[in-house]
Amino acid sequence: MVGIETILLGDAAEQLQTLEAESVHCCVTSPPYFGLRDYGVPGQIGLEATPEEYVEKLVQVFREVRRVLRLDGTLWLNIGDSYTSGGRKTRDCDQKLPARTMGQRPKTPEGMKPKDLMGIPWLLAFALRSDGWYLRQDIIWHKPNAMPESVRDRCTKSHEYIFLLSKSERYHFDCDAIREPFLTADRKGDRRSYRPGCASSFDLDAGHQAQKGNFAGLPLNPNGRGKRDVWSVSTSSFKGAHFAVFPEKLAEPCVLAGCPEDRTVLDPFAGSGTTGAVAKRLGRNFIGIELNPEYRNMAMERIGAAQVDHEQLTL
Ligand SMILES: C[S@@+](CC[C@H](N)C(=O)[O-])C[C@H]1O[C@@H](n2cnc3c(N)ncnc32)[C@H](O)[C@@H]1O
Repeated sequence: MVGIETILLGDAAEQLQTLEAESVHCCVTSPPYFGLRDYGVPGQIGLEATPEEYVEKLVQVFREVRRVLRLDGTLWLNIGDSYTSGGRKTRDCDQKLPARTMGQRPKTPEGMKPKDLMGIPWLLAFALRSDGWYLRQDIIWHKPNAMPESVRDRCTKSHEYIFLLSKSERYHFDCDAIREPFLTADRKGDRRSYRPGCASSFDLDAGHQAQKGNFAGLPLNPNGRGKRDVWSVSTSSFKGAHFAVFPEKLAEPCVLAGCPEDRTVLDPFAGSGTTGAVAKRLGRNFIGIELNPEYRNMAMERIGAAQVDHEQLTL
């Protein structure tokens, strides 16, 4: 059944408990980052005193996500890193969105020094893996239009992560839905991975085993090469959202590969509704959760206005 678009109002961990086990195909989400932004609502995640507390809260949320995912379901988790405060107590206004600012910065965590990169994405990834998730890939979101930084002793940061995690060893992953153009037309691996009619990574692995050896005579996939794990997507803002939204172009491949048409995508930190708008455009159902009632309304409006893109559908 298509046409379900809903955003539950409340805390992610609590609202997830109201959802049926094994009822969604994939989760595409970006939780609040550690110590970066004040979303102005009690119960928000991201203002914990230590990285450990923050990671533990998210592990609990994603444990519920795992329960709600089908056995072949995936989680696409966007998260960025940050530095310890170096003794500064407040954060400057964001140059792109002056409204988003942070009154307080967390203290330099124990075991870290001022100026240290905290490594939050990997702390979270390893904690999720320990909690039972299969940590399948670290996709790099490269931002060609990243904000300049006034630093002179390191490079300007221009990337975040999208971790691909799965509930089981084998899972739904439609590699054909996200192929990209070949750059060079003579790649052994690209020939080797072309198995007509096969849409999942485990089929490909079986194919690899059977085909060890002579690849030169094999055809190239006419639909392009397997999508690479560095995605260059410019950041974009959404009118009315005074917080970090991810671009629709970033959510698109996650939805296309992770969720078949007519099935359901989840975002427990819905924000301005980017995942929901993409899911609707691509003919998928959407269930979101959002703690801030203003953001929830904004997201519902945005998703309501999104149109199904019939050209991108194979129905
Ligand atoms: C990084 S933003 C998500 C942005 C979203 N990906 C978009 O493109 O608009 C994180 C969102 O999580 C929400 N949030 C914070 N704590 C929450 C909680 N405990 N439960 C549910 N939502 C929460 C914030 O209000 C914010 O809208």
